[in-house]
Amino acid sequence: MVAGIDDIAIYIPRLYLDASDFAEARGLDPVKLQKGLGISQMSIVDSNQDPACLAANACLKIMQKNKLSPEEIGRLYVSTESAFDESKAMNSYVIGMLEQVYGQGAFEHCGGVETKFACVSGSYALYDNANWIRAGESDGKAALVVVSDIAKYDMGSSGEMTQGAGAVVMLLNDSPRLLRFDPKVTSTSIKDEYDFYRPFGKETPIVHGQYSNLLYMIQVRKALEMYKKNVIKTKLIEIEPGETILDHMDYINMHLPYSNMGKKALAYLVRHEWRQLPRWKKIMQEVGMEEPVPKDPRGTIESVLGDEEFMAKDHEFTKIFSKTPEFQEVYESKLSSSLVASTMIGNLYTASLYLGFRSSLEFEFQKGIELSGKRVGFGSYGSGSSAMVFSGVIQPEYKQVVQDMNLESEMGKRRKLTWDEYEKLHENELTPEQSMVHARKEFILVDVKTDIETKGERRYVYNE
Ligand code: HMG
Repeated sequence: MVAGIDDIAIYIPRLYLDASDFAEARGLDPVKLQKGLGISQMSIVDSNQDPACLAANACLKIMQKNKLSPEEIGRLYVSTESAFDESKAMNSYVIGMLEQVYGQGAFEHCGGVETKFACVSGSYALYDNANWIRAGESDGKAALVVVSDIAKYDMGSSGEMTQGAGAVVMLLNDSPRLLRFDPKVTSTSIKDEYDFYRPFGKETPIVHGQYSNLLYMIQVRKALEMYKKNVIKTKLIEIEPGETILDHMDYINMHLPYSNMGKKALAYLVRHEWRQLPRWKKIMQEVGMEEPVPKDPRGTIESVLGDEEFMAKDHEFTKIFSKTPEFQEVYESKLSSSLVASTMIGNLYTASLYLGFRSSLEFEFQKGIELSGKRVGFGSYGSGSSAMVFSGVIQPEYKQVVQDMNLESEMGKRRKLTWDEYEKLHENELTPEQSMVHARKEFILVDVKTDIETKGERRYVYNE
């Protein structure tokens, strides 16, 4: 049986921090954020919002847009790494909020869990729900997979410039209008790592930034190797001599902790794929320098990062390689449209990859390109660490959905924060009643109980 993504909706908080204000306050060159990392604005949650609220708002949008009734939904999964309870799953809060609109017990028949594996867990949730549909267990019902996160780093840390917040929900069914998943090729890699993690009780993660960048690329490449094997085994794609699997992906969507990470990761993958092919000779001539190798090619990530001479040369090589017309063509045609939304919104952890997919659909459609039949490859990464590579094909009915996509209007009117407001929000100095924006037609958080008997209970309302 077929399974895939029928529709996507997003919910982005109304507040944002401008990258140039951030750079000024932190004494950084604004060009580092804008050009070096690809960040223009970062979405920030208001004091009356949490990741469950963001998720419920996205769900309500997709339900209303598609005139879905709760009976048509069989599963509701929430993937997040911003959980606020060690036991109660975030989807229970989301269902509680949705039932304020659809009536108590309206989603009683639904199943679902909250999934966790840093930024990759949404991809596992999509895969599991696609398999639920493919196995014929869904009995014609659809699944909602919501990816919702608040990417928040310590004040003054190097991660602080890569913050963001928002939720993306995907409607999965057996007759998807947007994307049908390719069967039996989804591939994963997994390794016990400490590149980025958030111990119990800590609101912000512990991060080893440069280590995480390199690990991301290594892990995705490993998953891509497995994907290639699966593609050959299942005969999904015939790879001719002189070709790479990437030639057969019309679009490539990468996990986007910041938008330039997508380009960095693409360059890494393309370089490793092309190195084996006849086309590499010409590329090397264009680059005009030997491809550097680390002093210890079999060394650890630490030893590679500590090899300063190699790192400097590799950086130089990557910069020149990324400017070759061959790479530029791949970048512009397969990746660039997926980066637009990330630049305006920032890191959404679990939701970043899918915001990128949503962005790619809208901005490629605007170019007038016929998208039907195009294969989309996904490179998903979650710290800690695991990667997943999978693919799907855009369906002939995609226009029914994509023609109405409008990122600006879906985000709504946003308000720029002053530095002082940002600091207050970051340090949790405001109560829900002191929110910056008066939200309408949205779920908001009104209270978190603090007394012993009910500690941690959350109350939400739908603001008409
Ligand atoms: P950093 O070390 O301060 O930045 O922090 P940098 O020195 O690497 O500079 C960044 C880029 O800006 C570089 O470009 C510089 O050259 C350039 P690149 O060489 O990479 O192309 N640059 C400039 N460009 C123009 N003018 C200038 C200038 N200065 C520098 N003046 C880092 C960067 C990402 C490490 C940091 O922000 C961080 O730690 N972020 C959080 C961790 C993160 O996002 N890691 C990404 C991979 S892991 C991942 O994606 C998983 C994650 O989403 C979590 C999860 O799975 O749950 C994070």
